Amino acid sequence: MRIGFIGAGSMASALARGLGERALVFDVQAERGEALARELGGQVAASNAELAEQVDLVILCHKPPQLDEVATQIAGRAKAVASIVAATPLARLEAAYPGIPVYRFIPNIPVEVGRGVFCYAPGSRAADGPEEALMRLFSRCGVVIPLEEPLIEPAMALMSCGPAFLALVVEALAEAGVRHGLEPGQAGRLVVETMAGTAAYLDANGLNAADLRRRVATPGGLTEKGLGVLEETGLRRSFDAAVDLVVEAGR
Ligand SMILES: NC(=O)c1ccc[n+]([C@@H]2O[C@H](COP(=O)([O-])OP(=O)(O)OC[C@H]3O[C@@H](n4cnc5c(N)ncnc54)[C@H](OP(=O)(O)O)[C@@H]3O)[C@@H](O)[C@H]2O)c1
Repeated sequence: MRIGFIGAGSMASALARGLGERALVFDVQAERGEALARELGGQVAASNAELAEQVDLVILCHKPPQLDEVATQIAGRAKAVASIVAATPLARLEAAYPGIPVYRFIPNIPVEVGRGVFCYAPGSRAADGPEEALMRLFSRCGVVIPLEEPLIEPAMALMSCGPAFLALVVEALAEAGVRHGLEPGQAGRLVVETMAGTAAYLDANGLNAADLRRRVATPGGLTEKGLGVLEETGLRRSFDAAVDLVVEAGR
């Protein structure tokens, strides 16, 4: 399956690196398109229209306001379209691309290193197009989680904003260690390795987070006391408020 990226910004670059696939690229910022194509061993198209004619699947990686402009350039030429454009539901995509298969994805930034997550909602003509090949392709760099479309916004708050939310947790925990004399680099490494190891441990043992918490926090011990402080000082309320804000803004 020949693929083409429209937009060669941060998310297109992360996805393209994770897929490791030669691709055709077009970006209105010519240097960005050229840099990504060079990195992928792919090519730059002369225009969005030329790109759409030459590939089996166009991956839309532009921003939401550019939907209609890009659709005007490629509708009638594109054979199938996968969109990673946030806040753009299937109804909007199918109206912009009538008659062809449309696939809506939300990836997160760890796709770049093969450990991403994609939320996925298929358009009404999904089965008429390269859906299976697309699933195999995206599965190379992340777990694809099919969702009813109304759940995409809450899912996005967790998995797309999630890397930034978890990065704040890493920063805060590391800074607490620095206040007690650790070097910032050491503290950061300790926390990042702990986060990666915790995820791997959960996965390997098929545990949920609450089971793991109970396994580490022996009753009456210091971890349990520390967890109590985090609960009392409102960690859950903070995450609730952040997720609420993201979900409500997407409505
Ligand atoms: N970043 C994330 O974690 C994340 C996660 C999930 C989904 N997304 C979605 O991914 C999309 C891309 O996000 P991003 O962070 O990669 O944005 P970005 O870095 O701004 O990249 C978008 C690129 O598309 C270019 N572009 C604009 N109009 C175009 C056109 N008509 N044809 C071709 N290229 C065009 C932009 O150029 P200009 O700068 O000149 O406009 C820019 O270089 C967004 O829709 C976002 O919602 C992002």
